[in-house]
Amino acid sequence: MCGIVGAVRNSDASGFLLEGLRRLEYRGYDSAGVVIINQDGDLERARTVGKVAELEHALNQAPLMGMTGIAHTRWATHGGVTEPNAHPHICNGTLALVCNGIVENHETLRQKQHEAGLAFTSQTDTEVVVHQVYLHLQKGLDLADAVRATMKELEGSFALAVVHAGEPDRLVAARQGPPLLLGRTDDESFIASDINALLPVTRQYQVLENGDVVDLRGANCLIKDRTGVVVDRLVRTSSQSGDSADLGEYRHFMQKEIHEQPRAVADTLEGRLRGDQVLEDSFGREATRIFDATRQVCIIACGTSYHAGLVARHWLEYVGVPCEVEVASEYRYRRHASREGTLVVTISQSGETADTLAALEEAKRQGVAGSLVVCNVPESSLVRESDLAFMTHCGPEIGVASTKTFVSAMTGLLLLALALSRRRGFDSGFEAHVVHQIRTLPAALESALGMETAIANMAQAFGDKQNALFLGRGAHFPIAMEGALKLKEISYIHAEAYAAGELKHGPLALVDERMPVVAVAPNDLLIEKLKSNLEEVRARGGRLYLFADPASGLIESEDVQVLHVAPVDSAIAPIIYTVPLQLLSYHVALIKGTDVDKPRNLAKSVTVE
Ligand code: M6R
Repeated sequence: MCGIVGAVRNSDASGFLLEGLRRLEYRGYDSAGVVIINQDGDLERARTVGKVAELEHALNQAPLMGMTGIAHTRWATHGGVTEPNAHPHICNGTLALVCNGIVENHETLRQKQHEAGLAFTSQTDTEVVVHQVYLHLQKGLDLADAVRATMKELEGSFALAVVHAGEPDRLVAARQGPPLLLGRTDDESFIASDINALLPVTRQYQVLENGDVVDLRGANCLIKDRTGVVVDRLVRTSSQSGDSADLGEYRHFMQKEIHEQPRAVADTLEGRLRGDQVLEDSFGREATRIFDATRQVCIIACGTSYHAGLVARHWLEYVGVPCEVEVASEYRYRRHASREGTLVVTISQSGETADTLAALEEAKRQGVAGSLVVCNVPESSLVRESDLAFMTHCGPEIGVASTKTFVSAMTGLLLLALALSRRRGFDSGFEAHVVHQIRTLPAALESALGMETAIANMAQAFGDKQNALFLGRGAHFPIAMEGALKLKEISYIHAEAYAAGELKHGPLALVDERMPVVAVAPNDLLIEKLKSNLEEVRARGGRLYLFADPASGLIESEDVQVLHVAPVDSAIAPIIYTVPLQLLSYHVALIKGTDVDKPRNLAKSVTVE
């Protein structure tokens, strides 16, 4: 989703700004732009629709040079994907501004600004913001005060950065919602939406809090809170590597990240198990106290992370822990009957998903026994806002479609179920058995990756399809949901998942010889039920594509293709059966020729609701 970078340097800032945009690309965007204050004190702007490479090309043709500047990747919310709608927006040729998020009362402000004689060149809510800051400057306010005054008038959730041609060594930025970080060296200062963009210049950063306005003047940065009081924010040191991500032998980051899963899960498990036991402090110092007080779990997440939560419900209920799983965007606006002793668990690879953050806030407002986040980004907002954090340690995930973070999050949630099982009377033998299975995960994932060539062949059948159905039962229904989501996201084929037993209650009407039906069939307690459901598909002429345990008894025929998944214990089967579905969607997307790592309209870090 939108990304901001800005700098007040003592040498040319354009290289940092462009590299910063490249490092924010993974968040998802559809246009990019930059403004620099040149040596004559004029604003110079370049904007392009499409990739940052387009902007780079434009800058190669007509370079911008200057020590202070702001840049932006835009993910369209208000107004189409056009160059006039790309940021930065400029008012009166002197004031330039970039903004992330949404300004809800932009219509009202726009009307007033029209009446004040201001002209508009875009359909965005952001242009209203730059006009509003300009109006305050006109009244004689200083730039930082004008930004603070503007923030008080805006409704919504946003982060912004602004530069003024008359003050070439100054940048003002503010946060009211989406994250914004401040980085400094001895004599320069920088802002960015996330740490990746700051890493080429510094590992040290401060996180602005909501309401903060920061005034950057080279080495001198002043942060004031919403009341105008000078505040200091904790200086943190990032543990992330500054190396820009490298594809190595792979064609796409998604493929690389699918293949990294054995290593990612091994890293997730590192230091989390001792002998036959899960180490509770993997979840944080307060874990034992909070787990002791936990009577039930409420899991809140979005998208793929929500699917991880649905799998976890099976594990938690198996060990006797009542569990509900909620889509964050629904949870945040619903009335709840809060129950004492609830552990609220959020799942988020980015740790910045706006709906999940707001839902966590709402859950805490209701009163909870504690909050735990399962997350891949240590510096993220959800980690900061939660009592406990289970970090998945799988390294940066660049592909917009979540893969390794999904299997690592499920691994963490299985450890959580084991930690809570002790309090539900499950003996150490049970924990030892599951821990033993968990230790086999990296090898079992590696074995599943060995199916890639066969899956690439299977994918050929999907190249001309517009629709697909995915089926699963029990803990594998969410895996089927995840398979359908992956196919939708990266191949743009319409795919839906059903609990296989639901077929005859409606979706069976869709089945004919043109409808591919994908199913995951581990050899578990539900296999015979699933086989009956698959027969219902065959009887209607449907084509079946099955990922099945060799002992399932499912056999190939003209209308049934079966790829065998090596036998795995049912405790870890959902994690393993994820892999063939990821590979299937990846290879279908290759055939379709889509932009696998940056699918249209999607963002890696969804910081608006
Ligand atoms: O960063 P999060 O895990 O909170 O993101 C939640 C969803 O936006 C995310 O899982 C999305 O569905 C992915 N594109 C899935 O591949």
